[in-house]
Amino acid sequence: MLNKIWYSFLVLVTLFVTSQSVAASEEVNVYSYRQPFLVKPLFDEFTKESGIKVNVVFAKKGMAERLTREGEYSPADILLTTDISRLIELHDKGLLQATTSTELASAIPAQFKASDDTWYALTTRVRNIYSAKRLGKIDFNYEDLADKKWQGKICTRSGKHPYNVALVASMIAEHGEADTLTWLKQVKANLARKPQGSDRAQVQAIHQKLCDVSLGNSYYFGNMLKDKKQKVWADAVHINFPNQSNRGAHVNISGMGMAKYAPNKANALALMNFLVSEPAQKMYAETNMEYPVRPGVKASDLVASWGKFKADNLSLETIAKQRKAALELLDKAKFDL
Ligand SMILES: [Fe+2]
Repeated sequence: MLNKIWYSFLVLVTLFVTSQSVAASEEVNVYSYRQPFLVKPLFDEFTKESGIKVNVVFAKKGMAERLTREGEYSPADILLTTDISRLIELHDKGLLQATTSTELASAIPAQFKASDDTWYALTTRVRNIYSAKRLGKIDFNYEDLADKKWQGKICTRSGKHPYNVALVASMIAEHGEADTLTWLKQVKANLARKPQGSDRAQVQAIHQKLCDVSLGNSYYFGNMLKDKKQKVWADAVHINFPNQSNRGAHVNISGMGMAKYAPNKANALALMNFLVSEPAQKMYAETNMEYPVRPGVKASDLVASWGKFKADNLSLETIAKQRKAALELLDKAKFDL
């Protein structure tokens, strides 16, 4: 009996000490692949509302390695990534933990979150086909890029960039590996130059008449149109939403997950809930020209002006399962060589 009383007392003391230490350190630590111009305004708004300070480590690569090295002593609470493959990498290396709330459950459609609640999308972006305006409006399927009529006319960034890997993975999910390999070889044969540069650099190349067609994410179109120097590049192309008469355009995401050893779990969940809230989703839409993942939140006027489109509703987990096969096929096709 005495033991039991001591035990209850200890539990109470522990709870008290734990809650005191949480109250004393009102902060949350974020590791981010997303850039400062985009997330900083969101975090400032969150701090204003909640009083919780957000500490951010920005990086372009190496997040999984860093988290693995830090292990259970990692200060990271929230991980932000720019596409599905990096979320899946964190998931597969056991660097995420499941977390949920009524806000998260109601704001994110099932297609755009992990079935085990370890990651959630924040925004969606289409992998568009850009084509020279001088050619007139064209209805594209991704499959059409293999057509001989585009020989020497296609520009793209590396096939192994996560954005292209996800697209190839979606092709495998749709057509199987053999047909996707044939497609890749034919697209490679149609390239105007070796894969290089960014998505925007391909639109610049169309403007310079080095090629006629390129692959690129939707938000870059908006960001180029808003950029003094790059507007002429964007003005030289049409943004095409592929596969509108069949399965729909390939969609990728940016997203978030809670780190396995998050030291500030409650604050981390508060930030996750904030990022899917209507005001935060609006900020994403306006700042980076992405599509909000939360149903009912509108895209920016500029993005909306490109028109409605049909999105491929293949689940991102299904696409992610084909990631390894996609990398192998890109090697087999010698796509980047
Ligand atoms: Fe990007």
